[in-house]
Amino acid sequence: MVEMQIPEPNTCFRGCCTSEKIPLHLPSSSFSLLAPIARGSESTVYEAQLNGERVAAKKPILSTSEDLDKFHYQLQLICQLEHPGLAELVAAHARPPNYTYFYQFYESRNLADKLHVEEWAPAPEFAVSIALDLAKALEYLHGLGIIHRDIKPSNILLDKDLHPHLTDFGLAAYKKDLKKVSAENWKSSGKPTGGFHKKNMVGTLIYMAPEILKKDVHTEKSDVYSYAISMNELLTGVVPYTDLRAEAQAHTVLEMTYTEQQLIAKVVSEGLRPVIATPESGYPASLITLIERCWNPDPLSRPSFQEIVEVLSVLHNKLKPIPTTKHGKSGESGTMKVNQYQEDVDWYKQGEKLGKKLEMQDRNGEVFTWLIRHIDQLYHGGRFLHVGEERLWRMLIS
Ligand SMILES: Nc1ncnc2c1ncn2[C@@H]1O[C@H](COP(=O)(O)OP(=O)(O)OP(=O)(O)O)[C@@H](O)[C@H]1O
Ligand SMILES: [Mg+2]
Repeated sequence: MVEMQIPEPNTCFRGCCTSEKIPLHLPSSSFSLLAPIARGSESTVYEAQLNGERVAAKKPILSTSEDLDKFHYQLQLICQLEHPGLAELVAAHARPPNYTYFYQFYESRNLADKLHVEEWAPAPEFAVSIALDLAKALEYLHGLGIIHRDIKPSNILLDKDLHPHLTDFGLAAYKKDLKKVSAENWKSSGKPTGGFHKKNMVGTLIYMAPEILKKDVHTEKSDVYSYAISMNELLTGVVPYTDLRAEAQAHTVLEMTYTEQQLIAKVVSEGLRPVIATPESGYPASLITLIERCWNPDPLSRPSFQEIVEVLSVLHNKLKPIPTTKHGKSGESGTMKVNQYQEDVDWYKQGEKLGKKLEMQDRNGEVFTWLIRHIDQLYHGGRFLHVGEERLWRMLIS
């Protein structure tokens, strides 16, 4: 946790952004940027040091006064946020020439890399728990009147315990402002200006709701759609529409313009959706139904995040394996113990070793004893930390 001193006065260069929690300008000696982690069209994210702690520094590319307006709008918005399911801004430097956001560093990559580079396959309980944490974060954002507008796995960061944190508020906006933009620039004129189109056809195509592809205004329900596409990707481990990708023989669906147009047309008019998770993969039918409701073509038929949280909470409680040991029931209370033991044992490596051992050992053998002895460290917050351990537990109790 980065502890920061708040300077006096704590404002941005223009004086419009303020915060009681985080500094909005920093002495240049307090931070240094190390290696770049990701380069986007509008910003670069670096691994960085801030007062000796590891952080992620996001430097937006600000070339016009409009970009600067956007920076201040975004900073004011992010300063309002405080939720465990959202990436935590720990400081900002909101003065020229080095406008920078400093975030808590999340060690376990973004969900897209985790799924597709590391080929991570979370146990159903774990996946539901991630879906629930994110739904809570989005319920919170929507409660503040904010639409995220860019929900996708690469904007979901995982911490060392693989808890999710939604990030990239570069397109987030207050709903009231989105209405205004739309009314002025879109509906009244009948067609968008070039600039408007560029700024507002936002998000990544395969995660975009049909109404957005039809150039309508983003609402909470467009976030619900993108969430559903992303959560189905989490459950299946499959990048949306890769079946079509194989057909087109392109590296990405978007690589060939005609495929992109075809895809939009199919999503919008024919209700094309990614291949959905199946009950055979261990997911309850109610979860699959929920995803289908969330990507319904009609935004009004999609549930709100409040409802999604209710459904997933019930499911999460049902799915949760409840191992008990002589130390008592494992759960939230296991957290302290995990922290105590983490110094001595690398649980990630242990999980991998366990998987290998499992193939060789008999169910009442050494592995079982090891697992029971260490259950408080392997299982906490209502779930197993690693899929290997989850599988092992299921085998042992079956
Ligand atoms: N706090 C963080 N901790 C660790 N890695 C991060 C963090 N923030 C971002 N990253 C990495 O950088 C990538 C890009 O971050 P982010 O989505 O915020 O920027 P972007 O997509 O380039 O933004 P924009 O679309 O505004 O240009 C993430 O997918 C993740 O891999
Ligand atoms: Mg991003």
